[in-house]
Amino acid sequence: MKKYQAKVASNIAFIKYWGKESEALQWPANDSISMTLDALHTLTKVSQSEDSDHVFIFNGKETGRDSKQGGKAFKHLDFLKEKYAFKGALRIESENSFPTGCGIASSASGLAALTLASISAWTQSASFEELEEKGFTKELLSNLSRMGSGSAGRSIFGGYVKWNKSSSAEDQFINKEVDEDSWELCDSVVLFSSSEKAVGSTEAHRAAWTSPLFAPRLASLSDRMKLVTDGLNEKNMEKLGEAIEAEALEMHAVIMSATPSVHYFGRETGEFLADMRKARKEHGLAMYFTIDAGPNVHVIYPKSHKKEVRAWLASKINENNLLHDSVGRGAELKVTD
Ligand code: PMV
Repeated sequence: MKKYQAKVASNIAFIKYWGKESEALQWPANDSISMTLDALHTLTKVSQSEDSDHVFIFNGKETGRDSKQGGKAFKHLDFLKEKYAFKGALRIESENSFPTGCGIASSASGLAALTLASISAWTQSASFEELEEKGFTKELLSNLSRMGSGSAGRSIFGGYVKWNKSSSAEDQFINKEVDEDSWELCDSVVLFSSSEKAVGSTEAHRAAWTSPLFAPRLASLSDRMKLVTDGLNEKNMEKLGEAIEAEALEMHAVIMSATPSVHYFGRETGEFLADMRKARKEHGLAMYFTIDAGPNVHVIYPKSHKKEVRAWLASKINENNLLHDSVGRGAELKVTD
């Protein structure tokens, strides 16, 4: 039985997708831009099956429709199957390259890999070219991944990827904004907690609208987007870095001032951010932070500064709590027998 295999890396947002204009249409409240990673990925293998329902094996363990991991996957498979009237059930084996429960959001890489591998299996397409011949362009695949998890849409492309909100949900689109070869940035993830999020992202996205800081954020965000894209195009780490730090802190300010109020990070994370800023000032280290909806810190720096930044990180953090990565080339597809 042929196995259709998708390898998709996670991504880290520089301007965050936070809040939805429409939940049903997965239409975000704002434009976002992220860096697609390389090493932190999901590998998903899919074959057609004779069973009455899909079988989903996640990290070696069968995961049912009612489980948290499986629930999202099955819901997305049902959506794809119905939309394109695909026939038959699938057997899916999915694995993350990063340890499960290490606090790295896996929904971006996971839902994108599931979308690619399952559509490849249903349409028996062995490559992006074959998918495109059947109407599944990368743009469409990105849009379909977005329906599984918003941030997943950006992981299809490599480099620095923008999700454009546009003026209607139908017109939103995701595209590569800056090529990975133009500037090689690294991301070292500092793990402070491996426990499950107290409040999941669906609920937290919904709560964003209750924060008094949300409307002013949306009104001013295009200025910060310009700083980020200019920073990337000019390879200006200071410009990019100051913008991404302000952005991460602003997203957390919205989250903390919403109802319900959530604190995704605690004292340890806060102290680390202060240490980073001090080291930057005192030793001129070109490293800046961003944080997703969790306690872990992504330290962003140019490859040319890898040695000094990693030496500083190693002096502060146990190596078991560090995951090093860099900008990646986007999703890959292949077929095995
Ligand atoms: O894709 P979701 O619904 O898990 O939301 C992701 C939100 C952030 O990771 C915090 C920001 C982003 O743009 O990836």
